[in-house]
Amino acid sequence: MKLYLDTADLDDIQGAAETGLLDGVTTNPTLIAREKRDFEPHIKAIAAIVQGPVCVECTGASAAEMAEEAKHLIQLGRRIIIKIPMGAEGLKAVKILKSLGIPTIVTLCFSPLQVLLSALAGASFAAVFVGRLDDMGMDGMQVIADAKNMLENYGLTTGIIVASVRSPLHVARSAAIGVDIVTMPCNVFNRLAKHPLTDSGLAQFMKDWAGYKK
Ligand code: E4P
Repeated sequence: MKLYLDTADLDDIQGAAETGLLDGVTTNPTLIAREKRDFEPHIKAIAAIVQGPVCVECTGASAAEMAEEAKHLIQLGRRIIIKIPMGAEGLKAVKILKSLGIPTIVTLCFSPLQVLLSALAGASFAAVFVGRLDDMGMDGMQVIADAKNMLENYGLTTGIIVASVRSPLHVARSAAIGVDIVTMPCNVFNRLAKHPLTDSGLAQFMKDWAGYKK
C-alpha cells in the first residue's frame, strides 16, 4: 500500500518526505487555492520535493478542454498524474488521455459503479471519498471493499485510491481490504505511528533506565 499526502502545503509535504514514508501527493482545486500561490510554480515546487507521483486536477468543463489541459499539466513534473472529475465528460477525457499514454485518476467517486466505469474508461486509478460518505451516514470503506470486488470480478487493473480520509482507522481498514493508495491530510499521516500505550511504555522504559543508570 502506498501512503500519499493530501495537501498542497509545501512545509507539510517537506516534513512528510523527510520521514521516508511518503509515496506521493494528491492535490485538488480547494487545496491549491488554500495556499494562495501561483499555480504552475507551486506544482513544480511540490514535484521537486516528492520522489513519487504528484496528482493535479483538471478544471476544464469538456473532455476536449480537460485533455488539452492535461497535456500541459503533465509537463510540470517528472511524475504528474492527472485527476479528472467523475462524469460523462470526464470519462471521455480519460479515454482520450489513455490513448495518449497519460495516466489519470478519476476523482470524486462515491460508488462502486463509478469506480467500475473509471476502470472501463481506462483510468489508472479511481479515488473514492470515504470521509464524505461517512459524513452522510454511509460506510465509505464498504464502498471501497465493494469496488475492489467489482474490479477483481473482471480482472480490471485500475487501482483504488482511498481519499477524504479522516483518521488512521481509514488507513488501517484500507490496508485490511488491500487497496493500492491511501491519501490523507498531514494530521492523519503524523498520527499513523502513534498509540497511547507506545508513549506510556517508552516513558516507563526511560524512567526505569534513568534510575538504573544512577
Ligand atoms: C483527494 O485528493 C480528494 O480531493 C480529497 O481527499 C478530498 O478530501 P475532503 O473530502 O476532506 O475534501
